[in-house]
Amino acid sequence: MLKSKIAGIGMYVPANVVTNKDLEKLMDTNDEWIQERTGIQQRRYAHRTDETTTTMGVEAAKIAIERAGITAQDIDFIIFATLSPDYYFPGCGVLVQRALQMKEIGALDIRNQCSGFVYALSVADQFIKTSMYKNILVIGSEKHSFGLDYTTRGRNVSVIFGDGAGAVVLQPTANEQEGILSTHLHSDGESAEILAMFNPGTHANHWANKNYATFNKAEIGDMFLSHDMINNAEIYPFMDGPSVFKKAIIKFPEVIVEALSKNGYTTEDLQLLIPHQANLRISQFVQQKLKLTDNQVYNNIQQYGNTTAASVPIALCEAWENGKIKQGDLVCLAAFGSGFTWASALIKWA
Ligand code: UT7
Repeated sequence: MLKSKIAGIGMYVPANVVTNKDLEKLMDTNDEWIQERTGIQQRRYAHRTDETTTTMGVEAAKIAIERAGITAQDIDFIIFATLSPDYYFPGCGVLVQRALQMKEIGALDIRNQCSGFVYALSVADQFIKTSMYKNILVIGSEKHSFGLDYTTRGRNVSVIFGDGAGAVVLQPTANEQEGILSTHLHSDGESAEILAMFNPGTHANHWANKNYATFNKAEIGDMFLSHDMINNAEIYPFMDGPSVFKKAIIKFPEVIVEALSKNGYTTEDLQLLIPHQANLRISQFVQQKLKLTDNQVYNNIQQYGNTTAASVPIALCEAWENGKIKQGDLVCLAAFGSGFTWASALIKWA
């Protein structure tokens, strides 16, 4: 049976570096708190108008396509993972198709937040294994900076996130010993509301104290997006950080071990773990729990913050560019986040 291999990989981060000290000017926070609780030293913020989630994804994609030795016209499917799309709809996939003047291929958007890229990779893997497509472009990209609460009220969330993009081109390989060995996807919607952005949305919260019969056009518009929502910061991401943390440190090790066991490996066989860069303390906890050495885990949250769907491909690309991944290495990608959703992919690097 065919397997999928990563034939090309690329990343793009905006030039604009925002340090913890820069954030101190906006809200009651400090470099010491941010570094101690998250490991983050700085992050990148996209240019207000010239860089969007799509344009960053396109830049990462161009590099991945070139490294795969193909052209954009050879791509036969696009999968784009993000929680910060250019438009509410349509998704970013079609914008990539237009920007790179690709053929009239399929474009799919994935909304799985921090697990988005690993979910996207898994979907692409299935299409390759069944021979439906030969060159799939998988992108994870985020422009968080446009939608964070930069007052003290939002400090627990806003100091964490950064912007950037990563992309891979997936191709088939007939060599059963290489490529993506397996992917593992999970969810638990019980805690959907503890890490979420509620508005604009069609949920019923804003309808609760209103009388249906008296609704007029203006009120209906208000329920979708109102000044109250903006004033009460209900248009920003909400996170109960400690609860997310507690679940993350259980599910990360579980899904990593699941991927290794499924393929007859143990943690000792692993050359590199690329965890979603949620918080350096989470990565360190996972490393300790699985008894992995420093050389077996790649972290770059210190430089980029948490870039959600982009964090895994950015870390994977940087690790590869730094020579930390060689042919034949066993590499595990793992992610956990809003939903909750979590996922892993085990790869024998080709
Ligand atoms: O990638 C998606 C998944 N997300 C995650 O995995 C995030 C998981 N959670 C976390 O990473 C951590 O919970 C945070 C980094 C978000 C927060 O760290 P924490 O150690 O859990 O802090 P906390 O929320 O319990 O807050 C502790 C204190 C509070 O003050 P009091 O009540 O003790 O006086 C907060 O108000 O820290 C305060 N605080 C801050 N202080 C300075 C919260 N944010 C900040 C801030 N600067 N930015």
